[in-house]
Amino acid sequence: MNQNKKLLEDEIKFRELLKNPIRLFGWVFPYFLVIILLLGIYYVQHLSNLSFNSVPVSVPDSTNIKKEIPMKKGGVLPAVDLEVVKNPTPDFIAKGKELFDNNCKSCHGDNGMGDGPAGAMLNPKPRNFHAVDGWTNGRNIDQMYKTLQEGIPKTGMAAYEYMPKVDRFEIIAYIRTFAQFPEVTDDQLINLDMNYQVSQSATVPSTIPVSLAEIKLEEENSAVNNQFLKFQMNVNTTQNNSGADALKRYSVNLRKVFTSFMRSNGQASMDNFVADVLANPISAGFDPSVTLLSKDDWKTIYDYLKTATI
Ligand code: HEC
Repeated sequence: MNQNKKLLEDEIKFRELLKNPIRLFGWVFPYFLVIILLLGIYYVQHLSNLSFNSVPVSVPDSTNIKKEIPMKKGGVLPAVDLEVVKNPTPDFIAKGKELFDNNCKSCHGDNGMGDGPAGAMLNPKPRNFHAVDGWTNGRNIDQMYKTLQEGIPKTGMAAYEYMPKVDRFEIIAYIRTFAQFPEVTDDQLINLDMNYQVSQSATVPSTIPVSLAEIKLEEENSAVNNQFLKFQMNVNTTQNNSGADALKRYSVNLRKVFTSFMRSNGQASMDNFVADVLANPISAGFDPSVTLLSKDDWKTIYDYLKTATI
């Protein structure tokens, strides 16, 4: 026992250690190591809370912005008078301001400083029209028109190809009042006309807003679905009808029968419908043995389908 203690003292020489405290470090070092390691792990795991960066870590993906298009009746768009584009009248610019306020202000800001509320989260930020440098397409009139026609891919700047050409030039004329812009040259106008046929009238299709289109599609789907459910009910409840009986015997999938009948425009001609089914009975919802049916058998099925799918 004594011997052991002696040995330990020999090995560790506590007295000497106290005289030269720096050597203690060798003993506490592992504790430091553990503490620093724990702090490090804590720091890494709480990085996002500790960060002083006030910009949120994830910026919304501006490429997914769904652009709402206005409800508009199609028609013929008048040709653009390039003379006015070159020397815009106060009236032309005033219309541009109105359009800018309705379509662009939310991102580009009241005075075109790129500080609109809708643009705050975008990366890159909406263009400040007072700045001379850093434009992606450029500040010439043909370059700005290109921006409106095509948008700037992978940024919040969407294409405004649905906007009438005149409206676009009106907005550009208004934007050009924010700062000193390069003069409009004949070359640029010729370039514009060659690329975008701005001095010719154009026919545009009618448009409805995306959200309305979604509702309409939904309604249409549910209308078709209701029609199918009625048909299914009819098939299941009809008795003593040779057409319904034959249909029950030979159909495998009533929904497919219904869709193929509607799609082949079966209401219009029996021959169309039968030819479609025989081309591929299974995908039309029938048992393959229908290939053996006679024309009279088909007639009873067809007549029944016609009444049951209304
Ligand atoms: C959803 C926000 C948003 C709206 C709305 C918007 N913009 Fe932009 N716009 C941007 C962003 C973001 C950029 C910057 C793109 C870049 O850095 O290349 C930009 C850039 C531009 C540029 C400069 C392109 C270049 O060459 O750098 C023009 C011109 C422009 N917008 C015009 C318009 C007009 C006109 C409207 C309205 C019809 C409009 N913008 C509506 C977000 C928007």
